[in-house]
Amino acid sequence: MSAGQQSAADTVLLVGAGRMGGSMLDGWLAQGVAGSRIAVLDPAPSEALAALCRDRGVALNVTDVRPVDTLVLAVKPQALDGAAPAIEPWAGPGTAVVSILAGRTLADLAAKFPRAAGCLRAMPNLPASVGRGITGLAGDGRLSEAAVARVERWLGAVGAVERLECEDQIDVVTAISGSGPAYVFLLAEALAKAGESLGLAPGLAARLGRATVEGAGELLHRSPDVEPAAFRQNVTSPGGTTAAALAVLMADGALEPLLVRAAEAAHRRARELAG
Ligand SMILES: NC(=O)c1ccc[n+]([C@@H]2O[C@H](COP(=O)([O-])OP(=O)(O)OC[C@H]3O[C@@H](n4cnc5c(N)ncnc54)[C@H](OP(=O)(O)O)[C@@H]3O)[C@@H](O)[C@H]2O)c1
Repeated sequence: MSAGQQSAADTVLLVGAGRMGGSMLDGWLAQGVAGSRIAVLDPAPSEALAALCRDRGVALNVTDVRPVDTLVLAVKPQALDGAAPAIEPWAGPGTAVVSILAGRTLADLAAKFPRAAGCLRAMPNLPASVGRGITGLAGDGRLSEAAVARVERWLGAVGAVERLECEDQIDVVTAISGSGPAYVFLLAEALAKAGESLGLAPGLAARLGRATVEGAGELLHRSPDVEPAAFRQNVTSPGGTTAAALAVLMADGALEPLLVRAAEAAHRRARELAG
């Protein structure tokens, strides 16, 4: 079920309509959610955001506070302390507070929104901006299944949602899918560098690297039942060119252990930032 198919009574307050919050707002409206179910707080809205809210009947920076079913926090983590007192009145005893803020804990959220029914942390990633993100979701266990499912539907407007077993796993999600798009962009860059080192013009090498990552990603997207390893094996003829390259990439200490070390570094940093 999508956000557009939620009960017509379900309401959401989006706090911060920047890159990530704005993507969610776009996703909800694209799914046909009535603007009257959405309120947005953003102190300096762009002209485009103001026009979108006006055209679609979304309440922008209204002062008439009414507790909502779901309150989505999408400000920068450092803005939360200053923003919370003005937002708190929207979080009544029936409100699920969901934060996408890196490093702000469930305990922190519960202290800032003491009347809320419960809190969740979500970690989306950049492809949410094209509706193809993946979000890890961890709650404090106080919310009903119906409330968590409602949050899942709001977040699902910009991609897949995976429920996590505990809050600690948010830091792992951060290290894998949160930071992961940058690892994939680096792969496109590295392929382009390799093309250049083999004699191609930089522009051509960049186009090859980019299109290869795009196309391989699209194949995975269109075939959810085919494992990445099966795709890899299917394009690897014994003794062929791909096998020669994979022998280097899959040698002891090569790509896989390198990525494990990279993800471990991101995980350590996520834990440090969470305090
Ligand atoms: N971008 C990602 O890929 C990503 C991935 C996972 C998680 N996140 C998390 O998502 C959050 C937002 O990131 P972002 O990249 O979307 O940041 P962003 O583009 O800077 O968006 C934050 C928005 O919140 C607004 N804002 C500031 N103070 C506010 C207040 N008191 N009340 C309401 N709105 C306020 C900002 O307005 P001004 O610009 O006028 O200050 C801006 O429009 C961060 O906490 C980040 O950790 C982001």
